Amino acid sequence: MHVQALLLAATALVSQVYCQTLPGTQPSTNGNLPVAYGTTKVTPGIMLDIALTKMFPTISYTPTSTNQTYVVLLVDLSINAATINQSALVPDMQLPLAPGVNANRTTRLHYWQPGLTFTSNSTVVNTTTPIAFYNPPGPPAGDIAHTYTFYLFEQEATFMPPADNSILSQGMVNMGMNRMSFNVKNFVEGDGRWPIGCGELYHGAGYHGQCHGYQR
Ligand SMILES: *[C@@H]1O[C@H](CO)[C@@H](O)[C@H](O)[C@H]1NC(C)=O
Ligand SMILES: *[C@@H]1O[C@H](CO)[C@@H](O)[C@H](O)[C@H]1NC(C)=O
Ligand SMILES: *[C@@H]1O[C@H](CO)[C@@H](O)[C@H](O)[C@H]1NC(C)=O
Ligand SMILES: *[C@@H]1O[C@H](CO)[C@@H](O)[C@H](O)[C@H]1NC(C)=O
Ligand SMILES: *[C@@H]1O[C@H](CO)[C@@H](O)[C@H](O)[C@H]1NC(C)=O
Repeated sequence: MHVQALLLAATALVSQVYCQTLPGTQPSTNGNLPVAYGTTKVTPGIMLDIALTKMFPTISYTPTSTNQTYVVLLVDLSINAATINQSALVPDMQLPLAPGVNANRTTRLHYWQPGLTFTSNSTVVNTTTPIAFYNPPGPPAGDIAHTYTFYLFEQEATFMPPADNSILSQGMVNMGMNRMSFNVKNFVEGDGRWPIGCGELYHGAGYHGQCHGYQR
């Protein structure tokens, strides 16, 4: 049923940048998604400032077909799990906590944009309102540098936005803790509760991340 998906990612931290997905996180890829804040490209090893990432970035990609529709996510993988009141989460969707950069960190959805296409010169064409509007990165002061990853997937032709009563619907996603513990793996695989935003990932050639990030 699923087509093989594309997974490209750009991982940015406010003070640290990894190329593609961070090793040890899932889903993973070594495919590069070109993302830029103004003239600052999200590339391995650069530091991104919170002030810079307040603006919406430019996402570009050379599509396999200009008819192919894509979905983009931005996910913070470094939320301190100990700060989450799990009683305020929806068990079916948010528990157990989605894995983040390590065992003590979970995730938060910062952006979910379906319906993108790209011209043959890699320019994004965007005629769709996001499901989750872009929330700029804002890690708590004094915390570790947070890892934020942009994911690009091919969108299934059958993709439907989450139902109105889903915590991930356009109307609900901004409420309470609804963006917390967003499980990208479940998003990709879909299981009746989670939307299938794209095809099955795990057949993809780009499954194993090769790039190693560093901090400065
Ligand atoms: C893309 O869509 C156009 C218009 O619907 C159609 O004419 C064309 O055949 C499609 N191309 C491909 C490669 O699917
Ligand atoms: C945790 O969330 C539950 C459910 O919303 C609420 O009743 C409880 O007061 C919260 N606990 C804390 C410490 O905020
Ligand atoms: C996670 O937290 C536990 C308990 O505080 C600690 O022992 C462990 O080192 C932490 N693991 C990481 C990867 O930070
Ligand atoms: C890319 O293509 C679009 C539409 O096909 C066009 O509007 C735009 O000017 C092109 N950009 C460049 C840099 O060539
Ligand atoms: C697409 O347009 C919407 C406004 O409708 C905007 O919120 C969103 O960030 C845009 N996404 C991209 C990738 O340009």
